[in-house]
Amino acid sequence: MLKNIAVLVSGGGTNLQALIDAQKSGIIKSGKITAVISSSKNAYALTRAENAGIKTFVVSKKELGSQDKFEEEIIKILGSEKIDLIVLAGFMCILTENFTSRYPKRIINVHPSLIPSFCGKGFYGLKVHEAALKYGVKVSGATVHFVNEIPDGGEIIMQKAVSVRKNDTPETLQKRIMQNAEWKILPKSAEYVCRNLLKNEKDK
Ligand code: GAR
Repeated sequence: MLKNIAVLVSGGGTNLQALIDAQKSGIIKSGKITAVISSSKNAYALTRAENAGIKTFVVSKKELGSQDKFEEEIIKILGSEKIDLIVLAGFMCILTENFTSRYPKRIINVHPSLIPSFCGKGFYGLKVHEAALKYGVKVSGATVHFVNEIPDGGEIIMQKAVSVRKNDTPETLQKRIMQNAEWKILPKSAEYVCRNLLKNEKDK
């Protein structure tokens, strides 16, 4: 049986779109996106999910009042939706060990740099590309990794390098890394993990 995938988002959702498209084109064939959970009710990612006929949920830390309640609510949804794999795709909230330890090797995240550069607490979205340009690296890229209690510290699944150009701004670099790296390795990694979950079941 196909593995149920939940995608956690906070914003525009272009990585979610890449996952939806990869499912349509058959790149993702061992799993199915059955839920999208957004930390913000205004995220355009929610519209993308609705357009694809995927069930959506909004879980707002602000409205719930604490990190504990925020995580509890997400855990409840993941349980009721029988989720096998959690994909963080532009999810801009930190998850504590209380959450991550429940799903060992079942949470993956896409980060817009070559880990271990420009990652960890405070490095998200455009800030990552600002830091890369400030440092002067000639190559950046994206990483998909398993999520554990250390921000951006879990085992690496896939990486893809992207050249930095002389006149890059954080915005142009971000766009090129998304197009050439993130949108490619995130769907591939989701398929890889789902396929392994299926394989492990069969071997039992
Ligand atoms: C992506 O570049 C993603 O790698 C990054 O935010 C962007 C979200 O875009 N995530 C992080 O920085 C997490 N540390 P999207 O909503 O269009 O997918």
